[in-house]
Amino acid sequence: MDIGCGVEMNCCKAVLTQFPDVRALIAVDKQSTVFQQAHFRDKKINSCVGNILERDSLKMHEGKMNKIISTNTFHHIDDKEMAFRNVYRLLKPGGEAGFLFVVNSWLYEFLKDLSELPKYSAILKGALPENLYPPDHGNQYYKEMLEKIGFKDVRAFEEEQRFCFPTDECFKDSIFGSLKIKLKMPLEAVETFKKDLLQVYEKAVGRYEGKLCHVSVRLNLLGVKPMESSDSKSKETTVN
Ligand SMILES: C[S@@+](CC[C@H](N)C(=O)[O-])C[C@H]1O[C@@H](n2cnc3c(N)ncnc32)[C@H](O)[C@@H]1O
Repeated sequence: MDIGCGVEMNCCKAVLTQFPDVRALIAVDKQSTVFQQAHFRDKKINSCVGNILERDSLKMHEGKMNKIISTNTFHHIDDKEMAFRNVYRLLKPGGEAGFLFVVNSWLYEFLKDLSELPKYSAILKGALPENLYPPDHGNQYYKEMLEKIGFKDVRAFEEEQRFCFPTDECFKDSIFGSLKIKLKMPLEAVETFKKDLLQVYEKAVGRYEGKLCHVSVRLNLLGVKPMESSDSKSKETTVN
């Protein structure tokens, strides 16, 4: 089962390429439009509109999955513990889950620094994207969360991911584009703002092979549902 498959169906595609003997896959996404617009289809893939935060939407699959994966989705989910708990319920005893999601982004830190400059504090107030990555939520935090739910053999390791912008103009347009809708700035101030964006970012993050890069930290998180426990009931009663 792939949670948050997205229109590209990247995980399903990769699984079917790497493991051609896989008999069936369930692609889950909370947006039904994903399946209408899917860029990849295969007769082994069963589409399922479901929300990993809403247990009832996936109830028919509970206790039946031997593998669950999810990439680039869990950082969008606020209540991660609830989502992991529902994944645990979906697994068969002995089933395995693997997650890959972002736990930190230098971009947010940089925007925060920028908003603290007196020149921009008023203008950026309320314009910053929500910080999806609390600073103390790293590999140890999520490892313990999975263990509390009942997963065993939990492994968690972080990796840095760098996306380099081909030109400085692309960098400026991308950052400015992500803020534009909420910014109230006179047109004549935009170019100066973009120039400042670049300078502050370069000072804070530097360049990689001469290019400005978006750097994020992704967490690989893996866990197994024990054979002896078919559900997490005993743990659920001890958790608020
Ligand atoms: C950034 S895309 C990732 C797509 C794909 N997994 C990949 O790595 O390319 C995130 C997808 O997760 C879906 N999603 C977000 N929250 C979800 C939830 N609570 N339950 C199920 N799907 C969710 C979104 O609709 C979106 O299609």
